[in-house]
Amino acid sequence: MNAIEVKELYKSYDGVHAVNGITFEIGYGELFGFLGPNGAGKTTTINILCTLLKPTAGQAFIAGLDVSRESDKIREHIGLVFQETTLDNELTTFENLLFHAYLYGMGRHDAVKRIDDLLSMIGLQSKKNELVKHLSGGMKRRLELIRGLLHKPRVLFLDEPTIGLDPQTRANVWGFIKEMKRAEGTTIFVTTHYIEEASDFDRIAIIDHGRIVAVGNPNKLINEMGRATVTFGATDGATVQTLIGHGMIESGSGEYQIKTEDPDLFLKQILNLSGLKINEFKIKKPVLEELYLSLTGSEIRDEYVDRPRKIRGHNR
Ligand SMILES: Nc1ncnc2c1ncn2[C@@H]1O[C@H](COP(=O)(O)OP(=O)(O)O)[C@@H](O)[C@H]1O
Ligand SMILES: [Mg+2]
Repeated sequence: MNAIEVKELYKSYDGVHAVNGITFEIGYGELFGFLGPNGAGKTTTINILCTLLKPTAGQAFIAGLDVSRESDKIREHIGLVFQETTLDNELTTFENLLFHAYLYGMGRHDAVKRIDDLLSMIGLQSKKNELVKHLSGGMKRRLELIRGLLHKPRVLFLDEPTIGLDPQTRANVWGFIKEMKRAEGTTIFVTTHYIEEASDFDRIAIIDHGRIVAVGNPNKLINEMGRATVTFGATDGATVQTLIGHGMIESGSGEYQIKTEDPDLFLKQILNLSGLKINEFKIKKPVLEELYLSLTGSEIRDEYVDRPRKIRGHNR
């Protein structure tokens, strides 16, 4: 059984197909990224999986439980961090957390210990008794993150957890998420439109116009998509002839290039040849952002703009 199973899921609003027939599964302990432009259907999908929204059609299961019929049981097993802040500004950090722990039926003793552990892990121990309205945006975000994890959920849903954060806080948030995955085996479903953040996730799905256009390990997807560019610098005549003999093309100022699907193999073949005089070499692999743009296009998507839906070809 998988942590999450989604089968042919749809959600429509008066002709707008927010989620338009998506199917995927996520294994226990996976860090899974849901990537897509504004309006792609990420939040709608999360809300269905968290049982906050009913699908128009299709099925979804969390830990084997049906989102349409077993929402109460599902809510015990999941943690949720919304796109918008939902903290109580007039309570302290500790009170916000304790209130949440009580909602989930935790006893005071366990709750206090867990709160202290998580506060130190995320670096907010010194803010324990501060009113939330006095915390910075980044601190509030980190506080929401640990609140979502208080009751040790099996699956944690995070909707744009790093939106608007500075690079240091983003790095801190990701470090913490990965640490929780390692330490507690939490399955993590996260949406983001900061594409490069997802480069080291276990798997990602790219969603556009309510449809999944790619799913898999990010490195594998990049490799499937793209040919890397290998560049050698050489001025020695014999070396140049050898490089050209292997299909490399001069790209100016003593540089020779080839595009290849298997740069490692190409390098091994070339570097095993004796007598080569190579000044330098570079390998440039495509990055996740390029894959993403090639699948979702470069058109700018403003949030919640109504536009006629194009029929698009989808290369899987
Ligand atoms: N309550 C709603 N009523 C009508 N349309 C909605 C509603 N919620 C979302 N949508 C539409 O569904 C699409 C997907 O929205 P959403 O899931 O919020 O996208 P994302 O989180 O990827 O930015 C958008 O076109 C949005 O305008
Ligand atoms: Mg959203």
